[in-house]
Amino acid sequence: MSRSMLVTSALPYANGDIHLGHMLEHIQSDIFVRFQRAVGNEVRYVCADDCHGTPVMIKAASLGITPEQMIEEVGKHHRADFQGFLINYDNYYRTHSEENRIFSEEMYKTLRERGYITTKTISQLYDPVKGMFLPDRFVKGTCPRCGAKDQYGDNCEVCSATYDPTELKDAYSTVSGATPVLKESEHYFFDLPKFNDFLHEYVKDVLPVELANKLEEWFAQGLKQWDISRDAPYFGFRIPDTKDKYFYVWLDAPIGYMASFKNYCDKAGINFDDYWKEDSDKELYHFIGKDILYFHSLFWPATLKGCGYRLPTKIFVHGYVTVNGAKMSKSKGTFIKASTYLKHLKPECLRYYFASKMNAQAVDLDLSLDDFIAKVNSDIVGKVVNLASRSSGFITKRFEGKLAASVFDPELAAKFTEAKAQIEKAYDERAYAEAVRLIMGLADEANRFVDAHAPWVLAKEEGKEEELHQVCTQAINCFKALITYLSPILPEIYQHSQEFLNDKLPFAEADQPLLDHVINKFKPLFARIDLKDVEAMIEESKQDLAAAQSSAKPADAKAEKGDHKDGSAEYVPLAPEITIDDFVKLDLRVARVIKAEEVPEARKLLKLQLDLGFEKRQVFAGIKSAYKPAELEGRKVIVAANLKPRQMKFGLSEGMVLAAGEGGADIFLLSVDDKAPLGSKVH
Ligand code: MSP
Ligand code: ZN
Repeated sequence: MSRSMLVTSALPYANGDIHLGHMLEHIQSDIFVRFQRAVGNEVRYVCADDCHGTPVMIKAASLGITPEQMIEEVGKHHRADFQGFLINYDNYYRTHSEENRIFSEEMYKTLRERGYITTKTISQLYDPVKGMFLPDRFVKGTCPRCGAKDQYGDNCEVCSATYDPTELKDAYSTVSGATPVLKESEHYFFDLPKFNDFLHEYVKDVLPVELANKLEEWFAQGLKQWDISRDAPYFGFRIPDTKDKYFYVWLDAPIGYMASFKNYCDKAGINFDDYWKEDSDKELYHFIGKDILYFHSLFWPATLKGCGYRLPTKIFVHGYVTVNGAKMSKSKGTFIKASTYLKHLKPECLRYYFASKMNAQAVDLDLSLDDFIAKVNSDIVGKVVNLASRSSGFITKRFEGKLAASVFDPELAAKFTEAKAQIEKAYDERAYAEAVRLIMGLADEANRFVDAHAPWVLAKEEGKEEELHQVCTQAINCFKALITYLSPILPEIYQHSQEFLNDKLPFAEADQPLLDHVINKFKPLFARIDLKDVEAMIEESKQDLAAAQSSAKPADAKAEKGDHKDGSAEYVPLAPEITIDDFVKLDLRVARVIKAEEVPEARKLLKLQLDLGFEKRQVFAGIKSAYKPAELEGRKVIVAANLKPRQMKFGLSEGMVLAAGEGGADIFLLSVDDKAPLGSKVH
């Protein structure tokens, strides 16, 4: 009997771009959905942008637009990114919507009536300049344990201590630089401990045993009351019957799954309640990353339970993407945005690579760029597409495009049938690496078969017409089976193969050969990845960083370095007046840092290789106290280019890189809009 399910991916925040880390999740869920549909199940697949919260509010303010304008703009980009990666959502919505407001208010009121909402006065750090309470990540200061400067409000990146933001020394608000003060306010709480027994059982049903065990620690510590309110100013939904309290973003975010689905139901004429009523027989699956497990396995089911809605059937948890064995890094150019990737590479390369390494465990997945190129080229091109390209020419030229009435080796054909159930099981269990392994095992068999029977030799021999026909027919049918088995992962190549093979290629008949059937002329289905494309993608990702830095607000820069809490530097007297004639003597140019290195013997200097477009230069800059070499590579700077070269102990310095600030951590390199060509004159 066919199944009926609703599948979601976590809702990406509306204050950032989609990157390859997000793509792991959306590719994982999209493959699952395509597979379930291919085997005849009915699937609804929705997602949305997560629009609320302080970071969205602050980012919009820094851009000088309203949050509504920002989420509109960001939504367009997110949708385009997902489409670009062939992620086939039925609906991609936003949490800042009427549907979500109605559900959130309704559910809150139900919880309140049922006695699950309490209030309590708490004190929190408050920015007296901006007039707002500060979430932990907007407070920085000196670590109370190791004394490291500029640590976030909740934990120290140097010694890993965790603490309360009120324990920080010399705390400052990263929004205004002001010293935060403690201020009291009334907060609303959701009574999570009341759901302790229910949740303790429930998590064992919805999570794999290793994750359920991990949650035991949380149960052992005891569940806490969940603070669901935030004070104005906040971008979110106002809590009913309050003047200036808002739902915390994580209260209405998962409700956004329902809201996106409701929005879709209204358009598509589907009955919402069939899916969400308490005794619904539809399946509900959430794909999420390991970092948001607490929200999805505790808060969200408890909220649903408290309101009398159905519960998720399973929660599918994945790990994090790393690139070349390390956390994605902006300075290394491995923090790759989805849109940057798509400018240089085909979506199916990443879909295939991720799938080939993905299983149902919440472990991290490394995108090793060399391995990525090698695997995609050798598997998709070398093993699969080549089967078709090597044999279809004979079918077209020698047999008028018509396949033979039977294949040459029925035993080989039988192997494709035998593997089918295992492949399907692997997909259904999200063991995609296993599915790919099985499929590539078949591809190897098929290639051995073609090599052994060498159609290019048969084609030259007398009386081997029938054998040539059967061998090529079998090779084409091996290709057909492989690409059909791979269709959840490679939907575009699959679609082009349908045209090529002149057949719908139903998944259920993947192993059934096409016989006595006319196919079309082969057209290239896929191009190899070129190392140059990958390099260009990394280079562009580095430039993204430089652009982000040049548009960063002074307040952000200040939060990173220095501690001028009132927002301006100490007054330094102005230099004597000059005329324009004096000024034009200075020739300032745009350059890019192509290499940055420490100078071991020099306390303050970094050695920079600069590209000025028309020439390359070496410059020593006294910026070591404020910048790490890796942060600099790829960014654009401004150089005083007609300064007389100076011979230093360490080498020749051919110019000066311009920076503001008084030295130490207070050095801020000048930036230029990233569009400015190298070598342009600064007037
Ligand atoms: N807005 C919340 C989710 C609300 S769901 C009701 C959020 N957004 S997020 O943009 O930070 O992350 C969205 C999803 O992307 C999460 O599942 C998260 O785990 C995943 N990933 C973000 N970075 C990732 C990697 N580097 N690698 C893999 N997945 C990662 O959390
Ligand atoms: Zn510390």
